[in-house]
Amino acid sequence: MNLLFIGDIYASPGRRIVAQYLNGIVSAEKISLVIANAENSAGGFGITPMIAEELFGLGIDVLTTGNHVWDKREVYDYFAREPRLLRPANYPPTLPGAGLHIARARNGVEVAVMNLQGRTYMPSTDCPFRRADELLGSLPESVKVRFVDFHAEVSSEKVAMGWHLNGRVSAVVGTHTHIPTADERVLAGGTAYLTDAGMTGSYDSVIGAEKHLALSRFLTATPVRLETAKGGVELHAVIVTVDPSTGRATAIRRYTTR
Ligand code: FE2
Repeated sequence: MNLLFIGDIYASPGRRIVAQYLNGIVSAEKISLVIANAENSAGGFGITPMIAEELFGLGIDVLTTGNHVWDKREVYDYFAREPRLLRPANYPPTLPGAGLHIARARNGVEVAVMNLQGRTYMPSTDCPFRRADELLGSLPESVKVRFVDFHAEVSSEKVAMGWHLNGRVSAVVGTHTHIPTADERVLAGGTAYLTDAGMTGSYDSVIGAEKHLALSRFLTATPVRLETAKGGVELHAVIVTVDPSTGRATAIRRYTTR
């Protein structure tokens, strides 16, 4: 079975290109489950209930997020009503939401989707490695297909998570940097791995934001307000092929549409 994971959907340009291509990708690539990171889907900062509904309506089955998920206050109450919207599991348990959801794919197979966040150059959360162990310990043995979005800044922490979960999950795919990496492979234990899926949004930008505004932040060291860039929009995703009887990945491939 094939899982599609769409990298960080950035603001309206990102949502628009998903709307344009998702149905075609799902049928052409025989996708059984669609997962997407949507922490930047609301103008680059967070997600709202209305935008989550819009993305689910396009055919996305599970939404993962990251540090920006807390930006929009109205999403806090929404978590209780919408278990398909995840936030990183290693934030304090007193916060709303969960970092694990078991979805049923189009072929009837149950798929555990997990969302974790790194700690290097990121907000100080609980340990994502130990939290991953706890989540896996809570999963029924019968749920063999397991997908992890590891939202983290540095590649070393992401590669380490890949090895930590090797043989225990079907895939570990990184998000957050908005820069796609080319190191996709299936580790010896049957875990598909990619350091970063990249962004679905404007690449004529600085990681999704208008170039001149981002540049003036660097040039002046002042808090310049960022705006969404519009040009050069690309969809960046990965397709992971998994044997549903074992949960082992057999292939991982990057998928890009311009
Ligand atoms: Fe992020």
